[in-house]
Formats: sequence, structure tokens, C-alpha cells
Amino acid sequence: MEIRETVNEEILNFKDIVDASLNANFILDQNDHVVYVNRKCLEIFNVSKEEFVEKRLKYYLLPEYHEICRQRVSAAFSGQVAELMEQKARRSDGEVFHIEAMCSPLLTKAGVMVHVTIRDITNRKRAEHNLIQAEKLSMIGEVAAGIVHEIRNPLTTINGFLDLMKMQYQGSARYIEIMKDEVKRIEKIANDLLHLSKPKEESEFRSENIVGIIHDVIFLWETELFKRGIQLEFQPLSEQIKILCEKTQVQQVFINLLKNAIEACNQNGEISIHIEKNEANVRILIKDNGIGMPVDLIDNLGASFRTTKANGTGLGLMVTYNIIKQHQGTIEVISEEGKGTTFLITLPLDEAIENE
Ligand SMILES: Nc1ncnc2c1ncn2[C@@H]1O[C@H](COP(=O)(O)OP(=O)(O)OP(=O)(O)O)[C@@H](O)[C@H]1O
Ligand SMILES: [Mg+2]
Repeated sequence: MEIRETVNEEILNFKDIVDASLNANFILDQNDHVVYVNRKCLEIFNVSKEEFVEKRLKYYLLPEYHEICRQRVSAAFSGQVAELMEQKARRSDGEVFHIEAMCSPLLTKAGVMVHVTIRDITNRKRAEHNLIQAEKLSMIGEVAAGIVHEIRNPLTTINGFLDLMKMQYQGSARYIEIMKDEVKRIEKIANDLLHLSKPKEESEFRSENIVGIIHDVIFLWETELFKRGIQLEFQPLSEQIKILCEKTQVQQVFINLLKNAIEACNQNGEISIHIEKNEANVRILIKDNGIGMPVDLIDNLGASFRTTKANGTGLGLMVTYNIIKQHQGTIEVISEEGKGTTFLITLPLDEAIENE
């Protein structure tokens, strides 16, 4: 094979090449001072050159990585290459992000220096996380579908016999009522699980009026709101807002969200529901003045079976997030402990889907 002669390396400006690299690069001297930093590095840490050179590197690393990074840099000073390692770093505005970094020794006329190469792998990490989440969900779905199938038939039988017993044993009516309530609860969990397990075919979607759906859901919760003395603010729109959806599923979303809002309220509970529309989307805000949520709970909503309630399953939001995702919508949460919570649901309008 003929090898084409390469150009004389002296005519290449390596500084320009590194400067244009898609990887972040910087060079440290023996006093741990940054003596060179490329454009990409300033871009991912979101800093000016002066700032990056001035601040100690520690500032950009999370504390748990300080020691290991110190060891890796000193290994590089003694001539070893510290291979790629995943870690977390901090941008100048405090945002934590994922990187992978490598340190290698650099022999210069001024002595040994260390060349650090960094890649921002936040997107890759996010994609990995989503994939794991999707796999988890589909596995849960398969298991759930099997269980629900087995559970439903015996439940119907139990329910039927409880009705019969209620007629025959008047004295035990109260116990039978409790048993029926418990059966209803098992049925609810089974139904929730089924919502998780059935990925919806778009062919089952119909054009539905979201205003009507929300109306129906409010009607379902009216007694509960009254019993707990919760004020509900809802200005029904006369206009119809059409979304392409499976009605029972979208109903389930608002049943779950309103149930959570009701359960979060203490005395003087207030819940408001607002619907607004722009050219492409409808946005539904459900706001309560209840107990609110701590930050660590908000971060994982919809991805874990977490519940803070004695009788909760933690399934409600998991189902909710899943349904909204299947309808190409999004959910945002704003919550403050002791103040309240707002769930903001955005769903694409039917016209928007048709015009695609
Ligand atoms: N509006 C809200 N205000 C305060 N906390 C909330 C609100 N909505 C959800 N949460 C918190 O999120 C957790 C998970 O909610 P999710 O609906 O998934 O389960 P759950 O309500 O506990 O149980 P289930 O819905 O099965 O009855 C709740 O236990 C609660 O701590
Ligand atoms: Mg709930």
C-alpha cells in the first residue's frame, strides 16, 4: 500500500488545532496553574479565560472528586496517563453536569506539565438514564399486565359474594362495607398498573375536548372537595379545546393530579385549575396551597414508586407521567414546602398534530 507523504508538522499550528477541538483541553504547570485553555473548555464551564485561569480547579469539581483528581494529576506529573474517568463537574453558574476526563503528562521545554482533556457527557448520560427508565417501565408493564389479568377475575367473584352476604347478614353490614372498599382499592391499583402496562396505539386516539374531560373529573371529586372544605377555583371555558387522546387515560391523569392536590391540602385548602391555549398546545395548571414537596422528591417524581402517604402506592404519578408521555405532552412541577404545589401539563392540540 502506498502511503502518501505527510506534510512537515512544523507548518501546522497545533495551538489552532487544539483550540478548535470538540473536546475541552487545558494544561497545568507544576504549580497547578492553568497555562493554556481551549475554547471548548471555556464553553462547557461557561467562563471567560481570565476567570478559568484565576479560579483554582477545585472550584469546578464536586468535592467528592477533589482527592481522586489530585491523585490523577500528580500521577500524570510523574509520567503516567490517567485514563478516561467519569465524574461530575460544576459550571460557573453552579449547574452540575457529567464529564469524562483524562490526564496525560506533557514534556515541555519548561519541564513536565499535565494535559487534561474533558468531554461533556451530559446528553449521553441523560439518554442512558432515559433508556434504563424506559426498560424498567416496560418490564414493570409486562409483569403488571400478567398480574392484573390474574387478579381481576377473583376480585369480581369476591365482589359478587360480598353483595350476596350483605343481603343475608345484615348484622355484619359494616364489615362487609369495609371489605368492599378494600376490594375497590385493589381494583384501583390493578387498573393503575394496567395503565402503565398498555402502551397506547395512536389508532385508539380520538379527538376529544379537554375542557369537557376536566369538567367530568371535577364532578367526580366534588363530594370529596366539599367534605374537606376545599375551595375550588375553576373558570370553565365555553370554547372547546380538542386534543388527540385516549379519553379514559387523560381522565386518569387529572383524577390522579386532583386527588394528590386534595390530599395535600390542610385547613383552608384552595385548589385552582386553569386552562390556557396557544397555537400549538393546551396548558393545564393545577395549583394547590397544600403541604408542598421537598426538592429531592420533586426531582424523582414520576420515576419512582415513592409515596409519603400511609395509604399511598406511589403509582399515581408514575401512571400520570407515562400517560402524558404517550400523548406527546410534558409535565412541570413547581413546589415549595409549606406553600403548595403547581402541576403544569402541556398537551399538543389536535390541529397541531393534523398539520404536521
Ligand atoms: N400536589 C401535591 N402536593 C404535595 N405532595 C405531592 C403532590 N402530588 C404528589 N405529591 C407527593 O408525591 C408522592 C407521589 O405521588 P403519587 O400520586 O405517585 O402517589 P401517592 O399519592 O402517594 O399514592 P396514590 O396516588 O397511589 O394514592 C406523594 O406521596 C406525595 O408525597
Ligand atoms: Mg396520588
